[in-house]
Amino acid sequence: MTKRVAIIGAGPSGLAQMRAFQSSAQKGEEIPEIVCFEKQENWGGLWNYNWRTGLDQYGEPVHGSMYRYLWSNGPKEGLEFADYSFEEHFGKQIASYPPRAVLFDYIIGRVEKANIRDWIRFNSPVRNVQHDPETKKFTVTAHDQVKDSTYSEEFDHVIVASGHFSTPNVPHYEGFEDFNGRILHAHDFREAREFKGLDVLLLGTSYSAEDIGSQCWKYGAKSLTVAHRTAPMGFNWPDNWSEVPALKKVDGNTAYFIDGTEKEVDAIILCTGYKHFFNFLPDDLRLKTTNRLAAADLYKGVAYVHNPDLFYLGMQDQWFTFNMFDAQAWYVRDAIMGKIEIPQDKAALIADVDQRVAAEDAGADDYAAIQYQGDYIKELIDETDYPSFDVQGACDAFYEWKGNKKKGIMTFRDHPHKSIMTGTMAPIHHTVWKDALDDSMDCYMQNDV
Ligand SMILES: Cc1cc2nc3c(=O)[nH]c(=O)nc-3n(C[C@H](O)[C@H](O)[C@H](O)COP(=O)(O)OP(=O)(O)OC[C@H]3O[C@@H](n4cnc5c(N)ncnc54)[C@H](O)[C@@H]3O)c2cc1C
Ligand SMILES: NC(=O)c1ccc[n+]([C@@H]2O[C@H](COP(=O)([O-])OP(=O)(O)OC[C@H]3O[C@@H](n4cnc5c(N)ncnc54)[C@H](OP(=O)(O)O)[C@@H]3O)[C@@H](O)[C@H]2O)c1
Repeated sequence: MTKRVAIIGAGPSGLAQMRAFQSSAQKGEEIPEIVCFEKQENWGGLWNYNWRTGLDQYGEPVHGSMYRYLWSNGPKEGLEFADYSFEEHFGKQIASYPPRAVLFDYIIGRVEKANIRDWIRFNSPVRNVQHDPETKKFTVTAHDQVKDSTYSEEFDHVIVASGHFSTPNVPHYEGFEDFNGRILHAHDFREAREFKGLDVLLLGTSYSAEDIGSQCWKYGAKSLTVAHRTAPMGFNWPDNWSEVPALKKVDGNTAYFIDGTEKEVDAIILCTGYKHFFNFLPDDLRLKTTNRLAAADLYKGVAYVHNPDLFYLGMQDQWFTFNMFDAQAWYVRDAIMGKIEIPQDKAALIADVDQRVAAEDAGADDYAAIQYQGDYIKELIDETDYPSFDVQGACDAFYEWKGNKKKGIMTFRDHPHKSIMTGTMAPIHHTVWKDALDDSMDCYMQNDV
């Protein structure tokens, strides 16, 4: 009997998993039957831009957290697929920080070539998964939203690739009820022009705050005020951008901070992160972790310690993305196909997680975190036939990127990096990022090189 494998989600992680199985099939190996359930009507996960906010056309929470004018926040040389280079996809090398539409095209190019779209059931959110310890089978219940019909099927393995940057973490501060303006979470941010001419307050100091603030600055916000709970970001910000201590409360349009200062603001954007949220999984299968590099309860970062027939992809906080999802997907494929043995002794699985948590905790700074995740990728790809690549070179691209951000937070995207897959230097983009208002693929591809 052929094994059956369910993949939940056709974003970059789920697509990596399908490509991993397809590459085995291409080599003549017998692979399990794969069914991917995807709640949206197209693939690409967060990279599949969704203009909607709130609920979608079927009443489901909108998955999309990306917004117009989003450009990659790290160099593309750090995320390039080892089996499908940017040059293979575009027929030429492209600049290092592509807008969303360009990266979407790249992700999709690889799976179109692999011809696996038929494995995916679109408009099909998974509603429930149950595991039977007797038969060792999983029963997956999905909702075909086009037919409005719910059905269940049995699988030998389930791979959860549903992402963790979609369910917003929304704090409450005193006075929000009476604020005379818009309060929104980064998840619902779509269009920076909405904030043109406005005084905007952002809460949070991570990538959403940095990037949404930068978008608003680029598209004409009057001022940006960023409140930090722990520490300021500390970049050399433009003159109309200030960093202030944590928000205490708002009253009318006045925001009060814990150091006693205040600021009149027109809008508040909560860049306060996301929750790992799996409401389609029962308690015994549901991952509970914070957003960290050594995710809780995942052996080798992928196998669920309480039931190692269940896997999770991409649940770590992410310096590396696409090529890390590949490393995980190839590993999970080989575990499912019996080429890699996962210990069945729970203590051994937990010991592996403990050791990863301790190693992450021992790291002093962001540079150590990048190295930690690079080493994790090396560890996984050494165990499979994923094309070996210069992971250290990708770490170096991230170090360069961090240095460039320190030099200029509004100019770091203007720097080129060298591909570790093809050795080619990226061209310099035709327009510096702060002046590039058109984020379309046509415009981006107008480089001559
Ligand atoms: C605003 C923002 C900007 C980002 N920018 C970058 C960047 O510049 N560079 C970078 O490398 N990374 C970036 N990321 C990180 C991003 O997490 C990864 O690039 C990548 O999208 C993660 O892929 P994934 O497949 O794990 O998850 P997702 O992309 O979230 O895909 C998960 C998929 O699962 C589906 N799904 C969810 N629940 C169900 C269900 N119950 N049933 C069926 N299907 C389901 C969703 O519809 C979705 O298609 C960004 C993230 C955010 C939020
Ligand atoms: N252009 C891009 O490519 C782009 C743009 C945006 C986001 N992203 C990606 O999206 C992912 C998520 O990033 P993120 O910034 O949304 O989340 P995040 O990295 O988890 O950061 C959450 C932030 O919210 C703060 N916070 C949490 N609760 C708070 C509260 N109650 N009050 C005040 N502050 C609070 C945290 O502060 P503490 O530090 O004090 O805990 C932290 O600064 C990342 O992978 C990132 O790369 C990419």
